[in-house]
Amino acid sequence: ATPPAYTVPLPPALYGNERLNSRGLDLSDENTLRRLAQVFLAPNPHLTSTQGTPVRNPANRDDIVGHIGFMGTADIESAIQQAQAAFPLWRDTPATQRAEHLERTAELLEADMPRLMALIMREAGKTLANAVAEIREAVDFLRYYAAQARGALQDATPLGPVACISPWNFPLAIFLGQVSAALAVGNTVLAKPAEETPLIAREAICLLHEAGIPQNAVHLIPGEGAAGAQLVGDSRITAVLFTGSTNVARLIQKQLAGRLNSDLTPVPFIAETGGQNALIVDSSALTEQVVADVLASAFDSAGQRCSALRLLCVQEESADRVVTMLQGAMRELRTGTPERPETDVGPVISAEAQTMIADHIATLATQGHRVYQTSLAPEAQSGTFIPPTLIEISAISDLKKEVFGPVLHVLRYRREDISQVMKAINATGYALTFGVHSRIDDTIETLKAQSHAGNIYINRNLVGAVVGVQPFGGHGLSGTGPKAGGPLYLRRLLAQRPALPAE
Ligand code: SER
Repeated sequence: ATPPAYTVPLPPALYGNERLNSRGLDLSDENTLRRLAQVFLAPNPHLTSTQGTPVRNPANRDDIVGHIGFMGTADIESAIQQAQAAFPLWRDTPATQRAEHLERTAELLEADMPRLMALIMREAGKTLANAVAEIREAVDFLRYYAAQARGALQDATPLGPVACISPWNFPLAIFLGQVSAALAVGNTVLAKPAEETPLIAREAICLLHEAGIPQNAVHLIPGEGAAGAQLVGDSRITAVLFTGSTNVARLIQKQLAGRLNSDLTPVPFIAETGGQNALIVDSSALTEQVVADVLASAFDSAGQRCSALRLLCVQEESADRVVTMLQGAMRELRTGTPERPETDVGPVISAEAQTMIADHIATLATQGHRVYQTSLAPEAQSGTFIPPTLIEISAISDLKKEVFGPVLHVLRYRREDISQVMKAINATGYALTFGVHSRIDDTIETLKAQSHAGNIYINRNLVGAVVGVQPFGGHGLSGTGPKAGGPLYLRRLLAQRPALPAE
């Protein structure tokens, strides 16, 4: 007899988020929550300066979280010079010592969790639970890459100064993931955070320095797109790590085209971009589990994860049941300010994002698609919120682009059309996450084999890949690979052959 397909054990969390539950914050503990609330209200000495560009809280646009001085061309030039000058020293620092600095940074992050969580919640609009997960993921990256650098890569040759360009949706985890990877193998770093979330990045750089990493080995480059373009366009930059939109990845790729490093190989470029992530649910699936997993996949982090579920494909026999239960479950989600611990869904990052998502919903509604939208909590009026929204579509081609927010599209399919559905999903060109909910092993195996996605999830949700256990990344329009938090990532940041002596 076929064993039930539902018993998919989570892999052991070697570096995983679960492990940290016992050591991190206990969110069911009232004292912890009170401490967190106090941190929220206390002035943060790093943020009191009023010099530079104001950074606003997306849950309340009147709340200025802090200020940041964006760097001009000359500042960036000087940072590149310093990172290049510091390279021999950092390259020649023993790998075990570099790893110790990264591990020390992980400890500092853990020790400072409430303060950092409060900043992430205010600056990026993350909920309490998401802020905890964010710090844990950052810690996981630091420990994982440190462990990798101590191992087989100890004697490998780094490249030089590396540009790290990171997004606002994981302003600490992806920021530190990129930076720690580059540093672990002996590269120096110029790290440009997203312009929406530079403050938590500045804290992270301070902690790296406090942990003993030389000032000039890692630089924060706060700025807008032009700052990133200056880094990428500079011939002293030996690799680029980028997470963000597919369009920006294309621009970077063009800028790097034709450039060679001193080892005469192309400048390594690792891009992790968007997704049009789908979940196929057949009529054998357990509806309660489907609903719980869809809720987490589509609306956690207000849908602002590249891994988030955008397209739910449900076999028509069970579609009414799934959609009705989903709507009921969506009604229970609280969309409001993250300062309230009971909030499930926070704001989207900016007014621009809010408009873009609202326009998309309005367009599909005008075209006659059925739209179900939940409501906002009373305090959510002064921020950029979009309540969880479900839209029924009739063809995958109704989805023109990735919509980066809490919007779930539902497509009903006939059993005999399942391979057409799979083809249409692949035809979007994105290949990041994909999921199947089914109790029929043949269906699971067939769809798994047909999917092009980088991360495939069976009978579970699509988000929260665990560093070191579930390496994360896609290809096609979704990125270049190698996957972050996996064994191949650091290898892309090394010289492929010995550098030629200078002429
Ligand atoms: N690594 C994240 C996740 O798996 C990506 O956004 O959800």
